[in-house]
Amino acid sequence: MNEIITKEINTSSHAVELQPEPVCARAPVGLLAELTHRCPLQCPYCSNPLELERTNIELSTAEWQDVMRQAADLGILQIHLSGGEPTARKDLEQIVETAAKAGLYQNLITAGVLLTKERLQKLADLGLDHVQLSIQDVDPENADRIAAYKGGSAKKREVARWVKDLGLPLTINAPMHRQNIHSMKAIIDYSVEVGAGRLEVAHIQYYAWALKNRAALMPTLEDFQRTAEIVEEAKERLKGILVIDFVVPDYYAKYPKPCMGGWGRGVMNVTPSGRVLPCHAAESLPGFTFDNVRDRKLADIWLNGDAFQKYRGTSWMKEPCQSCPRKEKDYGGCRCQAFALTGDATNTDPACSLSPMHQDWAKVAALESHTRPPEFVYRRMGKGGTTPHMSEG
Ligand code: SF4
Ligand code: FES
Repeated sequence: MNEIITKEINTSSHAVELQPEPVCARAPVGLLAELTHRCPLQCPYCSNPLELERTNIELSTAEWQDVMRQAADLGILQIHLSGGEPTARKDLEQIVETAAKAGLYQNLITAGVLLTKERLQKLADLGLDHVQLSIQDVDPENADRIAAYKGGSAKKREVARWVKDLGLPLTINAPMHRQNIHSMKAIIDYSVEVGAGRLEVAHIQYYAWALKNRAALMPTLEDFQRTAEIVEEAKERLKGILVIDFVVPDYYAKYPKPCMGGWGRGVMNVTPSGRVLPCHAAESLPGFTFDNVRDRKLADIWLNGDAFQKYRGTSWMKEPCQSCPRKEKDYGGCRCQAFALTGDATNTDPACSLSPMHQDWAKVAALESHTRPPEFVYRRMGKGGTTPHMSEG
């Protein structure tokens, strides 16, 4: 389609027949394994789809273990164990053990509230490499309100201590929006206090649940600018102590992010039931059929799957992206956001100042961020479905 086919991908134990068409020049670096959509939290910006997958269609232990082995064979280096809440899977230990034996670097992305010290110790013993702990705020009352979960803050602090006691690297992940943006400085202080080596502060991107809650989540330009200054000062002051990854809100950006590092370029996402996606929100796009690891090998899906080919590279782009010198830097931004905001996934992401729709959306952002925020629509209220209950699995 657009790039040069590779012979480097190791398909030794899971042989696939490569199509004659050129597909992709390299193996993915990472795989996001959404082990389950079950979660005790109900965050209004959840990036899971509006239709959550139920427990009875989740991949079995053996199927996830096979995914781990196939991922290693494909050349993937990092596995992100995610959800929902991945610790809701009772077989997490078996999956971690298999991934470790396959030589994969494993990052557990967790809200922490279901963990015990003994379980974390066991996971570390079996080969877990890194923990990414999400927080909603450092103010416990506000954090509980955002996640619709009581008592989460105290538990998360405890989990952070266990992670450090076990000698595992810790990242704090703090999704940022207008209802916690006032805590920016306190979140940085908290991250240092609990011994995190990295803090990820990503402003919310608007698709799935976040799009439903956009008016409740949109920060003002002035608040964003204030936090950007706080982050710049902290980055300098905390050199060698804390790395801060700061992802600016799209509506106030000049250029978009290369979402997922570019479609089908570096990351695969496997849903709880085994569907393989180029990004976690790809199911929000129309006209796709997604391959499943139950029917097709991971390497084959990566190389030849229709969904991965669709927006890989740059040949699918329209103007202004097609003739833009940045097109191989940001790959036109986010397909899912472009679709959610413009109705056409091949449009330039409106986060880009060169998009004809950028000014309109910047006006929407200005208006919504200065209007009294509406109540959150929590994740449990998804159209056509409810959050799978924790007692199911
Ligand atoms: Fe990126 Fe397209 Fe904007 Fe150019 S026009 S900066 S390629 S999103
Ligand atoms: Fe799907 Fe950005 S989330 S391309």
